[in-house]
Parts: sequence; C-alpha cells; structure tokens
Amino acid sequence: MNGNSIYEIKNLSLANDDLILNETIFHNANGYIGVRSNFEEGYKEGFDSIRGSYINGFYDFAEMKQAEKLCGLCEEKQTMLNVVDSQGIKVKLGDEPFSMFEGTVEESSRYLDMAAGVTGRRIVWCSPKGKRAEIVIKRMTSFVQLPLFTIEYTVKALNFDSDITFVSTHIGDVKNYFNPNDPRVAGESFEHLVPVSAGFKNGVSYIVTDTSKSGLTVCTAVKNILMKDGEFSECVGGHRTETTIASQIKENETVTLVKYTVFADSVRQADCKAKAESEMAKAMAVSLEKHYEAQKAYLDNFWNQTSLEIEGDDDLCLASKYNMYQLLQSVAKDEHCNITAKGLSGEGYEGHYFWDTEMYMQPFFTLTNPELSRNLVAYRYSILDGARENAKILGHKKGALYPWRTIMGKECSGYFPSGSAQYHINGDIAYSTIAYYLATKDLDFIAQKGAEIVFETARLWMDTGNYYHGQFHINDVTGPDEYTCIVNNNYFTNASAQYNLHWAVRFYQLLKEAGKTQAIEKIGLTEEEVAAFEKAEKNMYLPYDEELGINPQDDSFLQKEVWDFENTPKDHYPLLLHYHPLYIYRYQVCKQADTVLAHFVYEDAQDIETIRKSFAYYEKVTTHDSSLSTCIYSIVASKLGLEDKAYAYFGDSAKLDLFNLHHNTKDGIHTANMGGNYMAIVYGFGGLRLKESGLYFAPSLPKQWTGYKFKIMYEGSQIQVEVGSDSSVFTLVNGDAKTIHVYDEAYELENTLTIPRKKVGA
Ligand code: BGC
Repeated sequence: MNGNSIYEIKNLSLANDDLILNETIFHNANGYIGVRSNFEEGYKEGFDSIRGSYINGFYDFAEMKQAEKLCGLCEEKQTMLNVVDSQGIKVKLGDEPFSMFEGTVEESSRYLDMAAGVTGRRIVWCSPKGKRAEIVIKRMTSFVQLPLFTIEYTVKALNFDSDITFVSTHIGDVKNYFNPNDPRVAGESFEHLVPVSAGFKNGVSYIVTDTSKSGLTVCTAVKNILMKDGEFSECVGGHRTETTIASQIKENETVTLVKYTVFADSVRQADCKAKAESEMAKAMAVSLEKHYEAQKAYLDNFWNQTSLEIEGDDDLCLASKYNMYQLLQSVAKDEHCNITAKGLSGEGYEGHYFWDTEMYMQPFFTLTNPELSRNLVAYRYSILDGARENAKILGHKKGALYPWRTIMGKECSGYFPSGSAQYHINGDIAYSTIAYYLATKDLDFIAQKGAEIVFETARLWMDTGNYYHGQFHINDVTGPDEYTCIVNNNYFTNASAQYNLHWAVRFYQLLKEAGKTQAIEKIGLTEEEVAAFEKAEKNMYLPYDEELGINPQDDSFLQKEVWDFENTPKDHYPLLLHYHPLYIYRYQVCKQADTVLAHFVYEDAQDIETIRKSFAYYEKVTTHDSSLSTCIYSIVASKLGLEDKAYAYFGDSAKLDLFNLHHNTKDGIHTANMGGNYMAIVYGFGGLRLKESGLYFAPSLPKQWTGYKFKIMYEGSQIQVEVGSDSSVFTLVNGDAKTIHVYDEAYELENTLTIPRKKVGA
C-alpha cells in the first residue's frame, strides 16, 4: 500500500459518546467475525457500551409483534447475535488495577493500520500510587485464518518493580444491544443464548452455546499465552471462565500476554467444538509474528488489486482507504452469508442484508475481486427458495421476491410500506448478477446460479405488473426513497424491472446458444414466457413529465406539495425520527437518491438533458437522511460535469463515519455509503461503466486534486487508470488486450494508452 495507511487518534477522549463511537471506528473484522473495539478492562461504572462479537450469518429468531394480524405480515425476524465476550483482560500492577479512569493517563492513542490489518491502543499511565507503565495493545481478526481473533497485550514498567496479574475472561452469557427509541436498532432485549457448556481442556477455555429458537450452536475457544514465566489458575463460573496469570515485572521490562480466540458455528460446521479445537491448534502452530506476516501479505494483495490513490488530498485519500478497508472487513468470505448494512461492526439493522449489498458494496468487489462478488451472488442463489416462498406469501403465483431484509432468506421487515414493498430489491439483485457477468463474462456461473435468479425475478415482475393502455405498469410498490411509500410506477423500480427483463431474455439466448440450458430446464422457462418478458421490457412505462422535462419519481409525486424545508429546524433531521410517516409521505421530500440513482445505473434510459433537469429538481427536495444518497449525487453530478457539486457530495460521503456525520456510527459503520464512496471515485470521477457493448471511461478531475488512480479487473485482465490534469493513462497491468471506450471512442488497450482529458457532461 502506498502513502498513509494509518488512521490514528491521540489524546483519547473518555467521554462515553466518544468511547462508543470508537468501538465502531476501530472494530476488527474479516467478513466472518467482527469484534467491537471495547477497552479490554471496561469503562467506568455506569458507562454505556455496545460490547459485542459477531459471526456473519449467525442468528436467532425473535418475535416481531404486529399490532394487527393482517394476512402475510412478518411476525418473526432474524437477528445477528452477539455471541461471546472474549475481549476481557484486566491487569493489576501490585495491588493497583489499570484503568483509564483512575490515576493519570499521560499519553494515549488508538490506531488502525490498514496495511498491517491490526488496530491498537497505546497508553502511558501513572497509577494512583505513582507506578508508571506503558501499555500497548494490538488486535487482529485474521483474513487468512478467518475464525481467529488475537489480542497482544504488552505492559512495560517505566519506574517500578512489582507483581503483575492478568485476569483474562471468556464470557458466554452475553446479550444484544437494544434501544426502544431508535427504529434503526433492535427495540427489545431477548434471551437468545442458551448455555451448553463452559470449561477448560488442556489450558484452552471452551464455551459452547445454543441459540434459543434457530437451533444453531456456537463454540468459542480461548487460549492465553504469557511470553514469560507465570502462574496460571483457571476458574469456571456459570457460562464463563476466567484465567488468572501471575508474574513479576521489573523496571524497563516488558511482559506480554497473547490471547487467542477462535470461533466455530453450526451454520458452517457439523461439530463446532471439534472445529474450535482444530482452529486453535492451527492458530498455535505458528507464532503470532507469522500470523501478522500472513495478514500483511493478504492486505498487500488487496491494496494492489485496488491501488486507489488520490493525489493532492491526503485526508480524503485516507478516508477513502478507510472505507475500502471496511468493505473488506465486512464482505462475506463464503456463500453462507453476505454483507450486513453495518458490516460486522455493530448491531444497527440487526445484521440484516439489504439491497445495500448489490447496489452499493458489490460493485467494489465486482471490479477488484470478482471471486468475492461471485460469493455474494451465490449467497442470493442459496436463498432463492426463500425468495420463492416470500413471493407466495405476498400472493404471487410465479417467480421469486427477495426479502427486503434478511439473514437466512426469510423476510425481516416489520413495517412493510418501507420494507417488503421495496420490490426493486429484485431488480437490484439481478443488476449485480448482470454486472458480475459483464465484468467477468463468466457464463458458466450464470448457467449454474446467476440466470436462475434473473429468470425468477423477471417472472415476479410479470406477476406484479399489468398492461394499461398498452404500457406495462407496476403499481403499489416503494422505490428506494423511503419518504415516499406504496406508489404506482416508481421510476427507479420500473427502470430496474425493464433491465431485469431485458437480461432475462439475453441470458436465455446466451445460454441456449452455449448449450448451457440447465437453469432453463430446471425452472421450466418457456419461449412464451421469454417473449412476454421481451414485450413487457419494450413496453415498460417510465413516467415522464413534459412540462418539467424530468422523470417523476412516481405517478403521484409531482401532485404533492413540496416539504417546507425553510421552516424545518435543523434538529428535526432525520425527518423519520420527528414526523409521522404518513405526514412525510404526503410531501415531495426524498430521504435519498431515487430517480437520480436510476439516472446513474440505468442511464441509457434517458437523454442527458432529462437527467440534468431531474438532478436539479430532486436535489432541491432530497434531505440525504439516508447514508445511501450523497455518493449517488456525487456520481451523477460528475456525469453532468457539475464538478463542484460532485466534489462536495463526495467529501460528505467519504467522511461520513470518521466524522460521525449521521450521529449514529456508534451502532455500526454505514457500509453502503462506503461502497458508494468508492463508486463516486471510479464511476463518478472516472466515469466507468460496464455495459454489454464494453467497458467505458470518461475521466474528470476535481480541481482540488492533482490526480488519482485505481486498478480494476475486466474479463480476467487487470487495468490501471491514472488520471492527471492533462491526460489519463490506461495501462494493461496483466492479462489479454482489451477494447476500452474513453469518452465514447473505442481503443485497443495492449500496453499503455494516453488519452487527453476532456470536459465531461458538456
Ligand atoms: C435506507 C435504505 C437502506 C437501509 C439500510 C435505510 O435508512 O433508507 O435504503 O437499505 O437504511 O442501510
């Protein structure tokens, strides 16, 4: 990784709000497990904390009460569980316990090193009785051995000799966080974990826990190693264990405790305890240094695949790298799970997977690491039966309707107007499957899994929409903008259905031509159905307003009064926390990009003038109360040549979590925005588009920067793009020569191409 790869804060604030925020900002995760960055020793009595460790895709069921039992409403949800607390390490110097809240903190800092893949805390502390010690703590969730989490805890005595005692805990009876006043996190506390066993075997603590309703099991194993002689004693009490390690420390000496935790779960393993034992043995087989080296090597490769650099703006460059690093920490590494809306950094949205994955985060992987992108499609394929079931619940006779939010395939949205009614998720999943194909041309995978998704989602559109005056209408759905619900002909939804139908026809043809017809046969897709797809695609109704020259968000949007922005106090945003939903629905006010998003992803559906007018129109009525918004405005502003706006929206999106701009980063990172932030560079400033007709670029350069560069994978070749003030240089880093389009002109990229920069959007 070039340039600065370390995000560090010094002189740590001990205010409760900052502590909780930093639990998220410095969390460790690897796509399989995630551990919030709590202080090992805990906080002051009475301080709030979200002390959690999570496994992607590991859940329990919880009741979701519906006040009125209407047919088909969802009455049970899944929730990602906080499975264990293995973060606890308390240190005593003589008879004085270390605490940041007692004695004097002389120096303190926290960092995330994105090249090494570790986080850390460093403190110089003077105890109430005058013992000065330097404490250095380093944590890692391994990208190479996914079940492994390590804490390396080093104490240096600066001015004393004394006994030193470590108490390392492993706690199985943990709970999830809840807040009854915030719809964005769980509102109730449930007992999800059922203790099975806790105890030691050969110096390793094992805790086995079942879930109360989903029938799953998790086993965690913890081993403590002191890097000098010490006396170990073990204690088991309830569903927790404690290891006490007593030793001595001398002035200028350092004593290090290394704590290894491994996780095993029954979503992936038949025998969790045996798996935890073998993972612990694997972790012990090499030194901690070797684990760090492997982590670094993994990340060298990751950063090399991405190679994103911004020249002339170190802060934004670091923030963008932070966002990409979080995407890597969040993305599923197997087909059992996906990317939660908050990654594995917190409990906001209860670990659910939304459309966020397909429209915001997956593009990063499609372009830089297609294998991970393929996993994400494979996960959607694995829940296709659930989507078929969901379609039936909603009254459909054919096709599959993906749940708006889910972990294991069943719908989890309690409030259907801004949940299950968002049928566009079907088009979104189809879109990302198609994008994976366009970037890789991996027709085999499409034949095995992708096409079935695209066919079944296409079938659902046919079952949802109807012809009216010769045009295909889709009524009573909710588009991306959650401030406008249950409407007829949401422009984004119709455009995405059109694209979905188009590609169902294309995949049908491509698979027939290639003789790879297993999906077609499996689901009994007929020529007549495909002809009906084509007819609906060609006759899709896309609302257009002649007078304004824009695409109305839906049939009723323009009839409504515009929200009174002028008289809305600043502290009444986000509106969803201050106004009844129905009140909001009656106005022209958008929570997030909706038609403007369509103008990015389905840009060929409209001419540039319509897009320009739409952008100007919706910009005035959009609050960006959702974090999925400013990045899209940045991309479309880039397309339109509105450079200042593109840059300003990009900045808001880049810094959203590091600056806690939405005031809820404590509940977890905004992973979709992080993916959107990447897109704002590569699709926005770089003008990249993946189309059936090829790969397109239209680079622009914010005037605040001297240049930027990135690498992408396209059909097995790696391409580097370096944008400078006068020209852009395209380099074929490896693989076969490719045709690329720059400012709509085709070039053969065999080695290096230098193309003068042009004004975009003029
Ligand atoms: C947004 C949705 C998004 C969800 C999860 C909501 O605030 O409006 O579009 O899917 O958050 O990130």
